[in-house]
This record gives sequence, structure tokens and C-alpha cells, in this order.
Amino acid sequence: MLPDICKDIEPNFLLCDSALEHIVTHFRRELQAGLEQRGEDVAMIPSFVPGVPDGSEQGTFLALDLGGTNLRVCEVRLLGNHKFEMKQQKYKVSDELKEGEATVLLDYIADSVDAFLTEIGSDVAPEKGEPLLLGFTFSFPVEQTAIDSGTLLTWTKGFNAKNAIGNDVVKLLNDAFERKHIHVRCSALVNDTVGTLLSRSYQHGPALIGAIFGTGTNGAYIDKTSTIKKLGEKHICELEECGEHAGEYMVINTEWGAFDNKRQCLPVSIFDAKLDRMSINPRKQAFEKMVSGMYLGEITRNILLHLIDSNVLFGGYSTDVLNEHYGFDTSFVSAVEGAKTDEDVITAITDILKVKRKYVEPRDVELVRWATKLVAHRAAFLAATAIAAVVQLTEKHRRAEDKETIDVGVDGSVAQYLPGFETNVRVALRKLLGEAGEKRITIGLAKDGSGVGAALTALQAKKAIERSKKAAAK
Ligand code: GLC
Repeated sequence: MLPDICKDIEPNFLLCDSALEHIVTHFRRELQAGLEQRGEDVAMIPSFVPGVPDGSEQGTFLALDLGGTNLRVCEVRLLGNHKFEMKQQKYKVSDELKEGEATVLLDYIADSVDAFLTEIGSDVAPEKGEPLLLGFTFSFPVEQTAIDSGTLLTWTKGFNAKNAIGNDVVKLLNDAFERKHIHVRCSALVNDTVGTLLSRSYQHGPALIGAIFGTGTNGAYIDKTSTIKKLGEKHICELEECGEHAGEYMVINTEWGAFDNKRQCLPVSIFDAKLDRMSINPRKQAFEKMVSGMYLGEITRNILLHLIDSNVLFGGYSTDVLNEHYGFDTSFVSAVEGAKTDEDVITAITDILKVKRKYVEPRDVELVRWATKLVAHRAAFLAATAIAAVVQLTEKHRRAEDKETIDVGVDGSVAQYLPGFETNVRVALRKLLGEAGEKRITIGLAKDGSGVGAALTALQAKKAIERSKKAAAK
């Protein structure tokens, strides 16, 4: 039997069918508002990527990936038969870099590319005098104006570097390459969700949605360019008919992590409120803070501390790990959710939380399991509301290839390592879309979406450059 205190906590975590439906209705409304107007919470950013690849694409590209746990530099070889090869190197981004001057962060990124080229080397041979072209997966909200430019709207996920917001990210990076005399130039900018959509389509066939459930959460989807009303009719016509990246369709980066920043429908518990208040971006990324890997450990920590302080857990004893802000991460939630036996849970409690074995009673095991389950289930159910909202939003104008089945490519640590995540997403999808609706949806891991997606975007940018060179020569 769980103590009474649990009953007070549960309502904000166990979402009933009508609560889920209410959230999806709001979600659709915010997605629509973002398409109509700039400055909305859910930014709905046009990516200027006009379609998804078919798997035949070939070429070798340098790619950079910033926005997850590490900075990654990679070289991706697209083999053209839905397959690719990749060599990569990870570089740590310290908190000082994340919160210091942007130029220092970008110099570090440029240095990392240089180190990669020196230590690992590149097989790309640019034409004489030409720089090496690079695709940049930059996983933050960027208002793109073209495939190779866009201004940073805001930082998310623990980044807060100064003098970056409002600036063109590609220019900042290319300036750093120039400062350092590194003969590399960024030619394509892409969000990780867009990269995931492209990568999943390249490997598996046309996907509708690319979603990240990792350090942060976000999704991109493909739809008619004409749905992006805020672009204005003239611009939409130009994009549909001519221009470098013309097309009837366009990939849209939703930035759904900022859904319900106004807190109109999300189930905000006192633990969520505390997390938000003490974060470096209070009142922002409300949805992300309930769903993504950066925060699930912290919500759990807040719940466990509340139980300790209420003298119902671990005999009322805390530890340094439990007392520390972000003292443990989502891997604890994954360890408990994946535990086969109570002994596995005890190991997680003693190894990760550093609670002395003598303070762990059978009832504590039950309480810890209860707490992680609440947090993990709610994250998956909310993730499903985002997918359902996009599926419903695109219902009327989906491409022929998305009519029978709807494919969702996912990537990120929560999708990969949180046991039961996809199963729970499916349970909620069934509630929201009905059994037939849920069955139409396939969900698959698009591993390395960021690297492959950046390479595929760099390929599109290269083709566009070649096209405009040819046109100029005529
Ligand atoms: C954050 C970023 C978004 C990114 C997501 C997943 O929500 O704002 O751009 O796609 O994290 O990495």
C-alpha cells in the first residue's frame, strides 16, 4: 500500500482520456497559430528543405552537430542504396562554454572541426581553392531565411551563450572558421528534427514526422508550403514555382518543446513548477520540461525529496546526490523502469542515488518504482499528444505516400534508452486516434539523424549552388 501522500501527487501525472484529448486540441491550435503568425510560442519554422530523400542520394559530406549532450563532428558517406557510413568524433561542451560568450563557443566548435580534420581526416576533395562544405545540425530554435542562414530566436536545453540571440548562426560559424584560417564553410543549416526526418526517409522510405525525444524534444513534419500562411502569398508562390529550393512541399520545424508555455492545459505539478522556477529559462519550453531527458531525472528528484521530507522514504534520510540540483539524470529513471527485480532497483538506489543500503526498505523500492513510473508514463503520453496533433493537423493535405501508413522517425536518448517509452506512446496514440489510427502509424529509430540529415541537407545545398552556377554561366 502506498502512503496517502501519493494520492495527492498522482493527478498531475496520470492523464485520463479527456485530459489527453484536451491537450491535443490545444496543441493543434498552437501549431496552427505558429503557421499563421510569427512570434508565437510554437514557432513553426520553415526549413527551406523542399522534400525528403528517396535513398538514392550519394556523396560525402562533413557534418557538425550541436545541441545534444556532446558536440559531434562527423563525415558521412551516403552510399545511395539507403545506406551510409560515418566516422565521427565527440567533443565535450563544458557549462562555461554553454553560458559564456558566443564567439568563444564558436571558436571551440571551429577548433573541433580542425582537430577532426587533422586527427581523423576527410575524404572530401573540394575543387582547387574551394573550401570544404559542411552541413550544420544546430538543434535550437532558429528562424531560417534560407537553407544556409537563420537567426537564433532563443537558447534551450542549458545553453545560454551571450551575444548569439538575434544573430545569423551560419555567419557566426563561418566567421569563426575565418578567424582561425580553417578552409571550411558552412553551406547548410538544419535542425536535428529535420535531420531525423530526412535520415529516416533516406534509410526507410518517406516519413511524415521526424521527432527527437532526447536532451530536448521537438518535431518536424512535411506539408504543403501554402499552409505556412505567415510567409505571405507572394513568397509562397515564389517558393512553389521557382527559386533555389522550390517545391510544393516544405519541411516545417515545429519547436513543439515550447508548447503551452502559457500553462493553459499541461498538468503542472509543484515538482514541475519548482524545476521551471530554478531553471535557466523559466516559463519557457514548458512541454520539453515534462518530456525530455534533460528534465525527467530532475522531476523524479523533486518527487523523491518531497517523500523524504515527508518522512515516508528512506527513513527520512537524503544524500548529497539527492540534494544537488540535477544531482542525477534520466538514466536513473531508465534503470528503475528497466529493472527486472527489486534487487535491480536497490542497486540503482544505492549506486546512483548513493542511499545507504540499510535505509532501503521494500516499501522504498515500491515508492521509487511508483515515482519513476509516473514521470516516465506522463512523458510518453505527452509525446503521443504531439504526434497525434501533427497527424491531425496534416490530415487533409498529406502526400500520397503518407496516406496509407504514417511513418515517424525518432531519435534521442529517451526514445532509445527509456524502457517502455514507445509502448506507452502507442497506448496513448490508441486512445487519441483510435485503434485503426494508431495501427497506421509506424515508429522507427532514425539513428544518427543529426549527422545523416546534415549531410543530406548539405547535398541539397550543393546541388542548388551548382544549379545557380550553371544558370549564371548561360
Ligand atoms: C530543443 C530545441 C530544438 C531541438 C530539440 C531537440 O527543443 O529548441 O530546436 O530540436 O531541443 O534537440
